[in-house]
Amino acid sequence: MATKQFKDISPYKRTIGTPSEDYLYSKYETDLAAKVTTSVNVTNVAIFGIGRAGTIHLSSLARNPRAQILYIVDDIVEKHKRLQDYWSLHDTKFLTSKESDVIFSDPKVHAVVVATPTFAHEHIVKSALNAKKAVFCEKPLAQERNVCIELYKLSKEVGKPLLTAFNRRFDPSFSNIRDRVHKGEVGHVQTIKCCNRDSPIPSFGYIKTSVGIYHDCCIHDIDTLCWVLGEFPTKVSSMGYTHVEELKAIDDFDTVSVTLLYPSGTIGMIELSRNSCYGYDQRLEVFGPRGMIRADNEQPIHCIDSQIGLTGIKTAPIWYSYPSRYHVAYQAEMEHFFDLVEGKANEPFIKGHEILAVNKIAAAAEESARTGKFIDLTWTKDDFEI
Ligand SMILES: NC(=O)c1ccc[n+]([C@@H]2O[C@H](COP(=O)([O-])OP(=O)(O)OC[C@H]3O[C@@H](n4cnc5c(N)ncnc54)[C@H](O)[C@@H]3O)[C@@H](O)[C@H]2O)c1
Repeated sequence: MATKQFKDISPYKRTIGTPSEDYLYSKYETDLAAKVTTSVNVTNVAIFGIGRAGTIHLSSLARNPRAQILYIVDDIVEKHKRLQDYWSLHDTKFLTSKESDVIFSDPKVHAVVVATPTFAHEHIVKSALNAKKAVFCEKPLAQERNVCIELYKLSKEVGKPLLTAFNRRFDPSFSNIRDRVHKGEVGHVQTIKCCNRDSPIPSFGYIKTSVGIYHDCCIHDIDTLCWVLGEFPTKVSSMGYTHVEELKAIDDFDTVSVTLLYPSGTIGMIELSRNSCYGYDQRLEVFGPRGMIRADNEQPIHCIDSQIGLTGIKTAPIWYSYPSRYHVAYQAEMEHFFDLVEGKANEPFIKGHEILAVNKIAAAAEESARTGKFIDLTWTKDDFEI
């Protein structure tokens, strides 16, 4: 069949434009235009804690023209010189936590990034806010409800933003699902489920100080589900089991399922493991009367091979762990933080009441796993007013 009849007009006469899904090309177009809309702001930052999470944020900040790293605080002094040389941070001062008052009394510091172990968050966040610095704090902000309330109230009082970092909110695929759910593309969501299998298993040292799988890990999933749906559950049940002997000794679980019933009738399901042997398994799915949308696992390499013998089709493994899988999301959450600091965004994308709600749901899920009971959750005005 001659296909000449389908000959199209010249591509010069039709512009298709950048698809909204290509967030990297969109960013490139912004860079290409190099258009400065307001005066160029550089945020002077101090980072607390350069471990697993701190390294991700240091890497974003060191490459970001919007940031100047004035201080780095870490109690492992041997790291200081190595970090300074590796990241060429020759104008950055390195301190231990005992010396951190220098930062709080330095008016040049606009913002503090907190990536220390969770138990140290409260003191640093409080000191930073009292010193009128904007704060980006790794999750969980704190385990105790009253501490979270106090910190958010303080942030309001001093008029400085407090952003608790839930990186998955900034993941392009998860955001895509959320936007499409809010447009009604699958109708009223009947089920939403996510799979979160960690890789590699976090060090025993980390897990020991991590406040347990529900508050350390499951909060990401609870937050994702509630954010996508736009509501909080009224019934929660959960089961947990510990396969890893070392974790049994500290009374933590490594395998967890959580079921949530939302007021509109949606059922949420979370499956969680601390130890996936084939990579960082992160999937999210919504299902409703108009269809299903799923965010599948992503891979660094997209080759597909069929080689000698009938061995089937092979692909590259999925991303190994969170720094690679959520690379884009970590950068986007830091950009959002700068928007807050510079006043380009009015309020944190992750609100104080959402942090409290997620903590409440995580505590209910843990209680269910430990007691074998369904837990009812009620929500009053108090839950939404901080
Ligand atoms: N959002 C995420 O994807 C993600 C991933 C990992 C960890 N986290 C969170 O990040 C935080 C840190 O976890 P991590 O895995 O990076 O821990 P880590 O143990 O790898 O690193 C913590 C670092 O903080 C330093 N430190 C300890 N006390 C300090 C203090 N008072 N002041 C300054 N530095 C101090 C330690 O020396 C260490 O280098 C935790 O709250 C954790 O829940 C979030």
